[in-house]
Amino acid sequence: MTDGISSVLKEDRKFHPSKAFTDHARLSSRMAYDSLYRKSIEEPEEFWRDETRDLHFREPFKTFSEWNLPKAKFFEGAKLNVSESCLDRHLTTSARTRAAIIWEGEPGEVRTLTYFELHREVVRLAAAMADLGIKPGDRVAIYLGMVPEAAIAMLACARLGATHSVVFGGFSSEALRDRINDCGAKLLLTQDGAWRRGSVIPLKKMADVALEKTPSIENVIVLTRIGAQKAPLEMKAGRDHHWHEIIRKDHSEDAKKRSQHPDAFDAEHPLFILYTSGSTGKPKGLLHTSAGYLAGVHVTSKYIFDLKEGDLYWCTADVGWVTGHSYIVYGPLSCGASCFMYEGAPNFPNPSRMWRLIEKHGVTIFYTAPTAIRAFMRWGDEHVQKHDLSSLRLMGSVGEPINPEAWVWYHKTIGGDRCPIVDTWWQTETGSIMLSTLPGACYSKPGSTGLPLFGVDIDVVDDRGAPAKAGEGGKLVIKKPWPSMARTIYGDEQRFFDTYWKPLENMYFTGDGARRDEDGYFWVVGRIDDVLNVAGHRIGTAEIESALVSHPSVAEAAAVGRPDDLKGQALVVFVTLKDSHKADETLKKQIAEHIDREIGKFARPDEIRFANALPKTRSGKIMRRLLKEIAAGAVELKGDTSTLEDFNAVAALRSDEE
Ligand code: PRX
Repeated sequence: MTDGISSVLKEDRKFHPSKAFTDHARLSSRMAYDSLYRKSIEEPEEFWRDETRDLHFREPFKTFSEWNLPKAKFFEGAKLNVSESCLDRHLTTSARTRAAIIWEGEPGEVRTLTYFELHREVVRLAAAMADLGIKPGDRVAIYLGMVPEAAIAMLACARLGATHSVVFGGFSSEALRDRINDCGAKLLLTQDGAWRRGSVIPLKKMADVALEKTPSIENVIVLTRIGAQKAPLEMKAGRDHHWHEIIRKDHSEDAKKRSQHPDAFDAEHPLFILYTSGSTGKPKGLLHTSAGYLAGVHVTSKYIFDLKEGDLYWCTADVGWVTGHSYIVYGPLSCGASCFMYEGAPNFPNPSRMWRLIEKHGVTIFYTAPTAIRAFMRWGDEHVQKHDLSSLRLMGSVGEPINPEAWVWYHKTIGGDRCPIVDTWWQTETGSIMLSTLPGACYSKPGSTGLPLFGVDIDVVDDRGAPAKAGEGGKLVIKKPWPSMARTIYGDEQRFFDTYWKPLENMYFTGDGARRDEDGYFWVVGRIDDVLNVAGHRIGTAEIESALVSHPSVAEAAAVGRPDDLKGQALVVFVTLKDSHKADETLKKQIAEHIDREIGKFARPDEIRFANALPKTRSGKIMRRLLKEIAAGAVELKGDTSTLEDFNAVAALRSDEE
C-alpha cells in the first residue's frame, strides 16, 4: 500500500508507563481515558465547555457545533482573541515570570522570554503592524527561521485579527512568492539571515527576489539576527523597516489601543493559512479559524504532553510547518508551558548537539520525528552516552510512520527505558493531534499511533466507506467534523470539498492507509494518494513534476517514492528530455538546482533518472505503480503491465538499472 520503512525487528510488545509516571500523570488509567473519550463523543458540549475553561473567551459559546458539509462551525457565539489565551491569561498567575520560551541559537547564545516579556514583545510588534495599516482579516506572510520572533510574529497577527501565513525558511524565493500571491499578503516579516550548520541562509535576499513579483506586499519588517558583516541588508526605502526600530516608534493611540487591549473576534474568525502539498501542482492554503483550533491544540497539548509547571518542553519541528504552529506556539503557550526552541541543525557542530541541549537546559519532554530518530541512531550511541538525559520524562514522535526498530532504540537509548513515547498522528488539515496514546493512561505498541483523541470519530473503511474488520487494511477517515479542522482551502472551496469530503461520502478522507487492531489501536501505513512523505516533509508528486517540466530541457516527468531506511521515502524522478538535450551528469545537476529554486532544497530529488519515454496506460496515464517498482529496484516487474502503451519505455528503464 505504501513505501514504508523496512523494519528489521518485528515488535509486538506492549510498553506500559511506569508507576512513577502514572502516579503524577494528568490521566492515569485506561478507564479515565475511556470515560473522558466517551464524554467527548456523547456530550461534546459539556466536554468542551469543561476543557476550555482555562482559555480566555470574552464571551462563552452558545452552540457547540453546526455543519452542512463541507462547511462546519464550532463554538458559535464565542468571542475571543487567541493571543489572550496564550499570553494575557498568564500575566495574573505564577506563569507571569515563568519562561515561555528558552531559545538557543546555533552559535550557542541563550535567550529567555518570560510570559511577561513575550507579551510585551507581542504588544510592541502588534502596535507597529497596526501603524502599518494591518487590520482584522488582512493577510501577513512570515518568512523567518527558528527564532523567538517567529512566535512573536504569529501572536501579534492573532492579536490584531490578521491572518498569518508562515512560509518555512527552507522554501525558495519562488515558493514564497507563490504563497504570498495566493493569499494576497500585505505585509511580510522576515530576517537578514538564519544560521544553518555554520552558514548563513540569506532569508531577506531570498525574500527580495520574491518581492519583485508580489504586488500585494506594502511593507516588510526585517529582523536583524545575523548582522551586517555576514548578512548585509538592502533595505528598500518606504517599504522595508527594521524590526527593532519600528517596534520602538511612538505608536498612534489607535495602534496602542489595538495592541494593548485587543479586539475580540468571532469563533470562526480566520487565524492562519498554511500551505501544504496535495495531489495537484498547486499547494493548498489550508485555512484555520480561532476558537476550534485553539481548543483542539490546547486540550491535546495538555493531555498528550501531560504539561505541568516545572516542565521544559521541546518540540523540534520548524515553526514553518503545522507541528510548529500547534505544538511550539498555540498549544503549549495556551497551557502556560515553558518551551525550548533551538535555531540550528541537529548535528552542528557535532552529532551530540541535541543531547547536549537536553542536558544543559534540563528538557523534560522531547517531541521529534522518526527521520530524526533514525539519523540519531545512525550517528551512534556514543554521542548520546556522553550526556545525562535523566531530566527527560516523556517523548513523542510525529510526521511519518515510525518503524519499531527506531521506536525501541528511542525508548531505550534516549528515554532510558523510563519515558513513555507518544506517537501522534495528525495533519496540517486536522490542526491538532487525532491519534496518540495518552502517556499515563495507555500502553504503547511500537509503530502504532494508538487511540483516538477527544471528540475524534475516526475509523478505517473500505473503498465504499464500510468499516473494515479489525486487522484489515483500508482508508483512514474521520466520520464527523471536529473543532480544530481546517475550514477550507483559501480561495478554493470546491477543491476542499473534492479532496476531503467527496471521495467517501460525508466522511473526511485523510489520504492515509491504516488498520485498527483487535485492541482498537491504529496503525497508519502512510499516504495512499499522490503525496510523498520524504524525511517527514510532505511533498506532492504533481508539484515536483510541474517544477521539473518548467525546466527548458524537460519534456515529461514523473516523481515517485522509494523506500528509504533513513528518510522513510526517498524521492526518485523519471525525466524524458526534449530532443536537443543530452542526458548527462551536468544536466542532472542543473535539474536538481532547478528544483532547489522552484521549491526548496528539501525537495531535491534523491535520484534523477532519464528515460526515453514514460510508461503509460492506453488512456495516457503514467503508470506510477510500475515506476515505483522500478525505482525500488524490483528485478521483475510485478502486476499487470498489459495496458502499457510503450513497452520499450519499460525495457529502457530496466536496462538502465543493469
Ligand atoms: O501520512 C501522514 C503522516 O504525515 C501526513 C501529514 O503531513 P503534514 O500535514 O505535513 O503534517 C505532519 C505533522 C502533523 C499524514 O497524512 N503522518 C503524520 N504523523 C504520523 C504520520 N504517519 C504515521 N504516523 C504518524 N505519527
